[in-house]
Amino acid sequence: MHINFLKQLESIVEESDPKPSKIQKREFTVVDPWSDSTMSNLLTKISGGLKKLTGYHKSNKIYSGKVPLTSSHNALKNKDVELGGRKYHIKGSPGTGAFAKLYKASVDGNTEEIVALKVQKPAFPWEFYMYRQLDTRISDIQRPSYGYAHEVHVFADVSVLVCNFLPYGTLLDAINSHLVVGQHMDEVLCIYYTIEMLHMLETLHSVGIIHGDFKPDNMLVCYPSEEITDDTFRSETRSGQNQGLCLIDWGRGIDVNLFPAGTEFLADCGTSGFSCIEMQEERSWTYQVDTFGLCVVAHMMLHGEEMSIAKVPGTGGSYMYQPKLSFKRLCCRELLIFAYKSDAQ
Ligand SMILES: Nc1ncnc2c1ncn2[C@@H]1O[C@H](COP(=O)(O)OP(=O)(O)O)[C@@H](O)[C@H]1O
Ligand SMILES: [Mg+2]
Repeated sequence: MHINFLKQLESIVEESDPKPSKIQKREFTVVDPWSDSTMSNLLTKISGGLKKLTGYHKSNKIYSGKVPLTSSHNALKNKDVELGGRKYHIKGSPGTGAFAKLYKASVDGNTEEIVALKVQKPAFPWEFYMYRQLDTRISDIQRPSYGYAHEVHVFADVSVLVCNFLPYGTLLDAINSHLVVGQHMDEVLCIYYTIEMLHMLETLHSVGIIHGDFKPDNMLVCYPSEEITDDTFRSETRSGQNQGLCLIDWGRGIDVNLFPAGTEFLADCGTSGFSCIEMQEERSWTYQVDTFGLCVVAHMMLHGEEMSIAKVPGTGGSYMYQPKLSFKRLCCRELLIFAYKSDAQ
């Protein structure tokens, strides 16, 4: 199967490779997509549309619930948080990110209805906007790969994003669970997840969306609720969000359509090990930020560690970037080497 995939990828790369006669002087705007000024300009630009989005709730007051949302995890455990007329009972915390605190909560006393509450200070409505863009731009069949947001409650001081809760942990947890017992993830599973991630990015990028923070702690693992048989596996449509990976955390998401055509971005994601080559060399980038993240994730699954890269001479005075660790034990060697080469161009 991967031979066909390689052929397909090769033709895409050839088509996108500008022949000398087609090379023109490119003029484009360069923007830091995550700077405070860009974020506030974008939020002003979309503010009219944001108010109309289903599930968007804004208050100009500070949050005044009985327990402050920014209390410690322990202080919030087993407490009720009321938002928009619904009562969320905090059951625990599935994790903390660099920007937010996450809580697992049941809704209105129904222990079957579990959600994830993402609490962020200062308030941050951008992620909700990105989720709604995914709802409108991604087809139903692909949509389960990207997580769902039901609503957001924006206060003057804090915001709470209400998302689907997935109970099986992140891809980083899965990688680490192998490492603690001195093993690596099974190669076939690495290939399965890598193909899924390639598909995810192909879909996202084709609708002008960049994730911007593509790493294994932003990928939740999904399992089917029923046992997998050959038949159910083959007929798998992902419509029930029941297998594979789910990309979450859209706080650094970029809606390319909000920028003038041809805009490129200049900024560093600041996540050690995930800065793409362009970021490391202070050059502008667009979709490479995600593709590089994918290469690092694949590397972490295979080798259990982040990817160090070397710049090596290629043919005719060209050069390419390749991971320092070799792929010698792998049957998917060609597939990965090709993906790395394509990203380096
Ligand atoms: N919907 C969810 N279901 C289960 N766990 C989640 C969910 N969303 C986030 N988490 C957990 O919380 C962590 C932090 O969430 P994330 O959205 O990545 O926050 P940040 O923007 O601060 O990085 C994730 O790495 C994951 O472990
Ligand atoms: Mg995160």
